[in-house]
Amino acid sequence: MLQFEQFPNDFIWGGSIAAHQCEGAWQEDGKGPSAMDYMTGGSYEKPRRVTKELIPGEYYPNHEGIDFYHTYPQDIELFKEMGFKALRISIDWSRIYPHGDDAEPNRAGLDHYSKVIDKLIECGIEPIVTLYHFEMPIHVVREYNGWLNRKTIDLFVRHCKTVMTEYKGRVKRWVTFNEINHIDPASEFDAIFTYMLAGVEYEAIRNPKQDLARIGYHMTLASAKVVAIAHEIDPENQVGGVFGLTCFYPQTCHPQDNLQAFFDTNRDYYQMDTFVNGLFPRYKLAEYARSGICLEISEEDRLTLLKGKIDFLGLNYYSSSVSPSVVQKEESAVGSVFAGITNPYLEASDWGWKIDPVALRLILNQLDRRYHGIPMMITENGLGAVDKLEADGQVHDPYRIEYLRKHFIEMKKAIADGVNLIGYLMWGPIDLVSATTGEMKKRYGFIYVNKQDDGSGDQRRIKKDSFAWYKKVIATQGADLA
Ligand code: BG6
Repeated sequence: MLQFEQFPNDFIWGGSIAAHQCEGAWQEDGKGPSAMDYMTGGSYEKPRRVTKELIPGEYYPNHEGIDFYHTYPQDIELFKEMGFKALRISIDWSRIYPHGDDAEPNRAGLDHYSKVIDKLIECGIEPIVTLYHFEMPIHVVREYNGWLNRKTIDLFVRHCKTVMTEYKGRVKRWVTFNEINHIDPASEFDAIFTYMLAGVEYEAIRNPKQDLARIGYHMTLASAKVVAIAHEIDPENQVGGVFGLTCFYPQTCHPQDNLQAFFDTNRDYYQMDTFVNGLFPRYKLAEYARSGICLEISEEDRLTLLKGKIDFLGLNYYSSSVSPSVVQKEESAVGSVFAGITNPYLEASDWGWKIDPVALRLILNQLDRRYHGIPMMITENGLGAVDKLEADGQVHDPYRIEYLRKHFIEMKKAIADGVNLIGYLMWGPIDLVSATTGEMKKRYGFIYVNKQDDGSGDQRRIKKDSFAWYKKVIATQGADLA
């Protein structure tokens, strides 16, 4: 019988990391340089930069990460100690095909991930693999213009086929793309997130709205092709898409603002609707027609989309936002994804991300209704905060426990609402390099990594207070959140 008042017994508790943010070893075992290897450090005030060449003396935090490439056996043991049931990792494309278009895959790269996967399985932790988490070989960025070029679809599909064949039977759950939804004609074409996802340097973008629509479409098509191949390789494969969602509140209760807040969700949902329904949505085609954007969807593409429907939905959730008012323009503010307009009812993290656990319940319910009970997993969630290593060698992070507790309570309520939530993977269970700012200072982990933004520190691992707390949560299947 279904249980609705508690986390199900087979609930998948765990964490989520990405290769480029933790592995380091950027030139080891035949790895080629990737898009992320050209991104400098930054901060909340100072955005990361993409440099054309590697500038001597400039700090590129992903080159070293937290050295997970070498420390994974010990780090995975720590995840095991917390009782993890799953770890979402990404496979760095530039380790498998160093240039993206090489004739043969790099055996050393394949062997490395084989060892990581074996270690996870040995520790009773299911590996969940993301196939694209911003790790495009720089050669594909420079020579092909990344996802702007349709040829990139074939290169990526070949990469996915290689890894899905290699790890068949050992990996059963795959994710095609991480947060593909940030690519939309409304995205800022010169923003750092656009570069990371699209693998296109902004000088290459000539006609932003048209190009962004094409990039988003190519990625959508690539995902569908990979899903179909995954099912062919192993009918037991479960393939998902991961979306970074925010909940849009209208700035006022004026009907026009409410309508606008609804329309603002279109940019986050058009690929998700395609992934789930196998059909590129009419509302997006109507928007493109209005804006003079031309998208050629051939009959063959239509069939590809239909055959590439995902099996589960991954949700990355950090924050809610307020849609700028269309009737009170003077009160509206502009800002980045999660900064923007202040919501007087919410507190924000040190990086301006609004803390809103209730919106998580709302989004889960909305997705459940929209996709008729599709299995969902929270594939990222967590609090980026400044943690202090005390003189006695401990790290006390009650704010993180508080943040997670509040989100878990809302997840429990969503399950009680009937939502088919199958797992929770906390983002950054071990401190790693922040994607948007390149900082170490923005820490998410249960495990502190003694490394600072200037590259100093001995990288030793220290369990924060939240480590024991999460361990207890998992041990009690979420019954004890105290
Ligand atoms: C998600 C990304 O958008 O947010 C992660 O999938 C990223 O890669 C996470 O790390 C948190 O963002 P940040 O900038 O705090 O690292």
